[in-house]
Amino acid sequence: MEFFAVLDARHSIRAFAPTPVDKDKLDAILAAANGAPSALNAQSYEIYIAQGREQAAAIAAATWNQTFVGQAPVVLIFCSNPSRSEDQLGAEGARTFALQDAAIACTFAMLAATAQSLATVWVGAFDPAAVARLIGAPAGVIPVAILPVGYAAQPHEPTTRRTLSDLVHSISPAPSPPSL
Ligand SMILES: Cc1cc2nc3c(=O)[nH]c(=O)nc-3n(C[C@H](O)[C@H](O)[C@H](O)COP(=O)(O)O)c2cc1C
Repeated sequence: MEFFAVLDARHSIRAFAPTPVDKDKLDAILAAANGAPSALNAQSYEIYIAQGREQAAAIAAATWNQTFVGQAPVVLIFCSNPSRSEDQLGAEGARTFALQDAAIACTFAMLAATAQSLATVWVGAFDPAAVARLIGAPAGVIPVAILPVGYAAQPHEPTTRRTLSDLVHSISPAPSPPSL
């Protein structure tokens, strides 16, 4: 699919068919995530995979009962892992950048899924401690985003966006360089 067509085709889907996701497609999603940029190229994130009804349902139970998560044949859990960049960035910097690393990896995965006609929804509302326990994440590896992946069982809901004139702000006059 052409890149801008992928962006147009992506919508949150909250109902999944039981049709499994081919391994090739899942591999392509994971490879896309692995190609995402990351701070210092440290890839301060981890990806966990829940597959099958039982595992997906367990994850769903930790998402304040967003039951559609449990319908997805594949559920990817993107976690930050600041320990991978703490030496270079310090605790606070590593925490912030690891969050961004995990988020952009999830974004790449989401778009790679869309490009293969798969449906996703970014799930950010969940109990991180419960999810960490379920996936067996070691201390310091913190769930950031959950991405159910599968085939849509319902059309997407219409959504709106702000206008670009509301969203985009020109800086004027030209800013002076910060005094450091
Ligand atoms: C950080 C983040 C957290 C989100 N959390 C949830 C969630 O917990 N449950 C859900 O159903 N959708 C969640 N969404 C999906 C948004 O509701 C959705 O992207 C938005 O309504 C726009 O719709 P669209 O994705 O179809 O364009 C989340 C999206 C983002 C980016």
